[in-house]
Amino acid sequence: MDGRVLVVLVTFITVTSSQFIPPYTEDCRTGMYPPQGPTYKGPVSWYTVDLEVPPTQRWTPLITEKKADLVILIQAIKDLANAFVPSGKLIELVDITLPLMVNTLPHPFGDEIKGIAAASGVPLGEVILFNIFYEVFTVCTSVVAEDTNGKLFHGRNLDFGLFMGWDGKNKSWIISEKLKPLVVNIDFKRNNQTVFKSTNFAGYVGMLTGIKPHAFTLTMNERFSLDGGYIGILEWILGQRDGMWMSFLTRSVLENATSYEEAKTHLAQTKLLAPAYFILGGNQTGQGCVITRSRTLSLDLWELELKLGRWYVLETNYDHWEAPFFLDDRRTPAMKCMNQTTQANFSLKTMYDLLSTKPVLNKLTTYTTLMEVSEGKLESYIRTCPDPCMPW
Ligand SMILES: *[C@@H]1O[C@H](CO)[C@@H](O)[C@H](O)[C@H]1NC(C)=O
Ligand SMILES: *[C@@H]1O[C@H](CO)[C@@H](O)[C@H](O)[C@H]1NC(C)=O
Ligand SMILES: *[C@@H]1O[C@H](CO)[C@@H](O)[C@H](O)[C@H]1NC(C)=O
Ligand SMILES: *[C@@H]1O[C@H](CO)[C@@H](O)[C@H](O)[C@H]1NC(C)=O
Ligand SMILES: *[C@@H]1O[C@H](CO)[C@@H](O)[C@H](O)[C@H]1NC(C)=O
Ligand SMILES: *[C@@H]1O[C@H](CO)[C@@H](O)[C@H](O)[C@H]1NC(C)=O
Repeated sequence: MDGRVLVVLVTFITVTSSQFIPPYTEDCRTGMYPPQGPTYKGPVSWYTVDLEVPPTQRWTPLITEKKADLVILIQAIKDLANAFVPSGKLIELVDITLPLMVNTLPHPFGDEIKGIAAASGVPLGEVILFNIFYEVFTVCTSVVAEDTNGKLFHGRNLDFGLFMGWDGKNKSWIISEKLKPLVVNIDFKRNNQTVFKSTNFAGYVGMLTGIKPHAFTLTMNERFSLDGGYIGILEWILGQRDGMWMSFLTRSVLENATSYEEAKTHLAQTKLLAPAYFILGGNQTGQGCVITRSRTLSLDLWELELKLGRWYVLETNYDHWEAPFFLDDRRTPAMKCMNQTTQANFSLKTMYDLLSTKPVLNKLTTYTTLMEVSEGKLESYIRTCPDPCMPW
């Protein structure tokens, strides 16, 4: 049994014992765009990060503005850790051991994390913990699709916070809720020109969702496996450091790769700390794929194939050639809606409809991002999922 299945099972037992009888599926939504109504919590603000400013300082303006929300989130994580291992020993360990790691992180990540700690006043070890977190606990839905004009679209729901403190009173995940105020859109610039754009959490230096305008779009989904994240991260802490942090790789690719093909090669071939799915869209017809990665290998490359009628590729958190876990099947409802929409009617709008349909939209969904590479467009929205709604 892999990690996610275990987590979902345990959560299922915990949560159903109180209030849920899944699955809360529904008919494919239509007419949800522009975002409005009870599943839309609000817009996401834009910030600029200047890549010409030294790494220790480039995050300062953003963090200065988001400091209070970051402190609240980190306190919530600490409360959970202390509930899990009473006596404060776990956080003590974080504060003492993780800072030793910062100088082992590749350029520019170590310096950027130091800068974020300095600007927020949050202890360095806790900022590192915050940055490791997403490597391990992100569950999502991503889709790349081509319309009948050869235009490429890429969308994703970012679901985060599984098993991290269920708030029985208002039926929500504590960490997911506290993350919402930290969602930001960032325009990364060099020489006053956009290099890439992303939807991100303030305080996090890796990338989960981004676009290089007119070149490619990229999202990362967690892939659970027993040789998974924990082992790679532990090895890193213990000194074996030949793998790359997954979200650091996506950041490097967004920052420094210049084409779909170059991005694909790096994502498929770089040795990683943990398994992952990379979902990549290009700027030309047929350029869209899901790269299924183990730590060392590219296990599978699943590409658009219009001749075979495959006008989209869609990934949740299971290998596409295997059935998803029955308590966590977001893939079948999502594909049903894609098929129902048809390629002829696919657009940014219908992509938002898809990402608004339960259980693709669930209690973990913090944001929805829509990207259109040919326009260089990235837009994102904070989400909520009113009851009845699947907890994951
Ligand atoms: C649940 O309660 C918390 C804390 O009171 C709040 O931050 C959060 O927004 C609430 N969530 C929902 C979905 O109402
Ligand atoms: C940067 O670009 C913006 C708009 O593209 C322009 O308004 C601004 O003057 C530029 N700043 C510098 C320093 O060139
Ligand atoms: C991108 O390339 C530049 C120049 O080689 C390098 O300084 C920078 O660290 C790279 N960025 C990332 C995120 O790897
Ligand atoms: C797509 O990217 C390639 C490689 O960077 C570039 O040469 C081409 O002009 C781009 N096409 C479009 C339609 O933007
Ligand atoms: C959607 O269509 C694809 C391609 O025709 C097919 O393989 C898949 O089974 C369909 N899925 C659903 C859930 O309808
Ligand atoms: C596609 O869109 C058109 C116009 O909006 C609509 O009339 C038609 O019913 C749609 N087709 C499907 C299969 O949803």
